[in-house]
Amino acid sequence: MLSRRQALSGSAAVTGALAASLLGPRASGASTIPATLASWLGGPAGARIPYGSCVRPDPMDTEIDYRRTLKTYCQQLTPEGGLFWGYLRPTREEFKFDFGDRVLAFADANGMTMRGHTLVWYDAMPSWTENIRGAAEAERELVTHIERVVSHYRGRIKTWHVVNEPIDDVKWGAVPGLRPNIWLQNLGENYIDIAFRTAHRVDPSAELLINEHGIEGIDPVSPKRREAYLTLIRRLLDRGVPIHGVGLQGHILGKYLIDRDGMYNFVSEIRGLGLSVHVTELDVIDHDLPADTVVRDTIVAGRTYDFLESIFAASRPSAVATWGITDRYTWISGNFKRKDGLPNRPLPFDDSYRPKLMWNVIEHFCQPAA
Ligand code: XIL
Repeated sequence: MLSRRQALSGSAAVTGALAASLLGPRASGASTIPATLASWLGGPAGARIPYGSCVRPDPMDTEIDYRRTLKTYCQQLTPEGGLFWGYLRPTREEFKFDFGDRVLAFADANGMTMRGHTLVWYDAMPSWTENIRGAAEAERELVTHIERVVSHYRGRIKTWHVVNEPIDDVKWGAVPGLRPNIWLQNLGENYIDIAFRTAHRVDPSAELLINEHGIEGIDPVSPKRREAYLTLIRRLLDRGVPIHGVGLQGHILGKYLIDRDGMYNFVSEIRGLGLSVHVTELDVIDHDLPADTVVRDTIVAGRTYDFLESIFAASRPSAVATWGITDRYTWISGNFKRKDGLPNRPLPFDDSYRPKLMWNVIEHFCQPAA
């Protein structure tokens, strides 16, 4: 099963063939490939892959080591929650850009770019949106939000995670449909089209991504979720929706092996459709891994290696981002607490900002190809 990838991996012929297939005409929806696509594919085949992290503004303001680590290692930053509706839109009338703007100012001052996360997500919604009723009101609110937010950062956020986590959980072993949210309820699947078309209209030069988790493991649900994700992406392309890339979040469940063949095939399919691939939120969920730090860090690094290797073997991605840079600040500690009370260790730097084995793995893949 691995032989095809192994044969292809590292071959210069692959790069040429891929470039030809990416830049050539596509079977359907070809008109949605913008001229800027080539610049989103990560530059020359051997160039360094930009690495980044999501960012919390408080330690960014107060902790020298946090700032230093971001400045030393990152080329891209993503505000962790500052562009969620729940933060940005406390009321229907308000738009609170302070969090995003602080991260953008820090990125600008240090020669980094900022990614936008996210315009549409079922979670972290303010309670006033529960009163939205009917297609007309839903479309008006969705379009207004995207117009205001994308225009605020027009030309400065070059990559947007437009729709986040659209695929539902697997139930009864079936391929899942779309995850329920206020937009699906009122607009059906068309909410995704509206989101991408609006973002594209407001900033035609921005790279627009769909973003999803839970597709990489040898577990009961990943193959079904991968299938649902790919089918959705094909439907969007067939409808001419301006989608330019696919985000692989990579919140890896540490206890499962990585489905290397599954990921290799998935990434190959996506690139064959002319779309870019980004790793957007990598971390390794370690709440049920062994307590021993060395053992745990080795498994975390190993999962990271297998995940990135299967993606890179198909095609070097446009970017690799982890969801946080230090174990000191991670959403995993709030959501996946360990029964033994030990702190989680899901990220490339420990809570004293010392690089872990996971960092060596990321650096290994992101460095310029020989
Ligand atoms: C998380 C943030 O890290 C937390 O601070 C917040 O409380 C909840 O959301 N997938 C995503 C991210 O796309 O937006 C989530 O971030 C983690 C899972």
